[in-house]
Amino acid sequence: MTILITGGAGFIGSNFIFYQRKAHPEDKLVCVDKLTYAGNLSTLKSVMDDPMFRFYRMDICDRESVYQIFETEKPDVVVNFAAESHVDRSIEDPCVFLQTNIIGTATLMDACRKYGVKRYHQVSTDEVYGDLPLDRPDLFFTEETPIHTSSPYSSSKAAADLLVMAYHRTYGFPATVSRCSNNYGPYHFPEKLIPLMIANCLNDKPLPVYGEGLNVRDWLYVEDHCKAIDLIIRKGRVGEVYNIGGHNEMRNIDIVKLICKELGKPESLITYVTDRKGHDLRYAIDPTKIHNELGWLPETKFTDGLHKTVQWYLDNRAWWEEIISGEYQTYYERMYGNR
Ligand code: NAD
Ligand code: DAU
Repeated sequence: MTILITGGAGFIGSNFIFYQRKAHPEDKLVCVDKLTYAGNLSTLKSVMDDPMFRFYRMDICDRESVYQIFETEKPDVVVNFAAESHVDRSIEDPCVFLQTNIIGTATLMDACRKYGVKRYHQVSTDEVYGDLPLDRPDLFFTEETPIHTSSPYSSSKAAADLLVMAYHRTYGFPATVSRCSNNYGPYHFPEKLIPLMIANCLNDKPLPVYGEGLNVRDWLYVEDHCKAIDLIIRKGRVGEVYNIGGHNEMRNIDIVKLICKELGKPESLITYVTDRKGHDLRYAIDPTKIHNELGWLPETKFTDGLHKTVQWYLDNRAWWEEIISGEYQTYYERMYGNR
């Protein structure tokens, strides 16, 4: 079959492409990506010449181009990773988040309906559930937890989820939605916590921890997320939402200390900075449904995954050094300069 993957030059989309090539070499992959600041063609260089892979630079909001690609490539399945994904940028400037994350999703679904795509999968996030209190470790997000967003980013993702479910109910649109917790692993853009801290550590720069560093995230190795999505598109039930997470809750400060330890850097690099506005306290996924229905379980333990990730950043300095030497510097100065 042909799988159209949007946002495949980004972090999770590229890892999904690599996983698909390994797990299902018989399937043809078509990647479309606008190549925003977060998209990087060099990430895809190992598959660029593969006859079962094709890349198009395209904005998922550009209806005419989207229809043209569907007409040419006739995808059976569409997996939508394309999004503006960084909470801090959404707080600075929400508009592009509404455009890509909502209008882009609607445009793709319209194309799927027009060209009779058999399955559309929306890659969503646990952030649509809002946050949980720090003093209630017994509480988890289930698929029934009400949507209750905090940031412009999570609100735009929630709006997209609602649209997907509305298309399913109204048109019988064959969609599934997954809501995953925080990912980490290779090709993670260094604006996000783990790669930012690794890059700063390696450059002996301050490690900017928001607030007191006590916020909790539920970390999952990116390949485990890719395996879950693969199961959902092949075996998941249409019209269903699946939560994905590995019961691996960590406080930010503990992650940063672990990274210092992995790299043999002093904790004195840690600098506490002004907190993120509206900062979600805790995310924690209950993955019972995907485990019971599809047999999914995370396979990578956090200590192993973090070790592999740190090693990847050590072995692939050119990839992230190229990123942080460009426009990223202006971003970094704007975000952290006076914090
Ligand atoms: P990313 O920012 O690394 O990559 C996003 C990709 O989308 C980039 O390649 C970018 O160029 C592309 N893109 C952006 N706007 C586009 C547009 N208008 N048209 C076409 N392409 C466009 O993001 P990521 O971390 O890989 O996240 C992928 C998806 O997974 C997102 O939908 C995000 O909401 C979701 N998600 C991420 C995480 C996480 O921890 N990173 C967790 C759960 C869910
Ligand atoms: O939960 C899934 C979500 O995880 C995805 O939907 C988002 O696309 C993804 O970016 C991520 O969102 P977070 O806001 O949780 O990730 P981020 O890496 O930006 O921040 C993780 C935590 O670390 C958060 O509590 C804020 C904190 N932080 C982050 C940065 C960048 C810091 O303390 N310092 C930093 O410099």
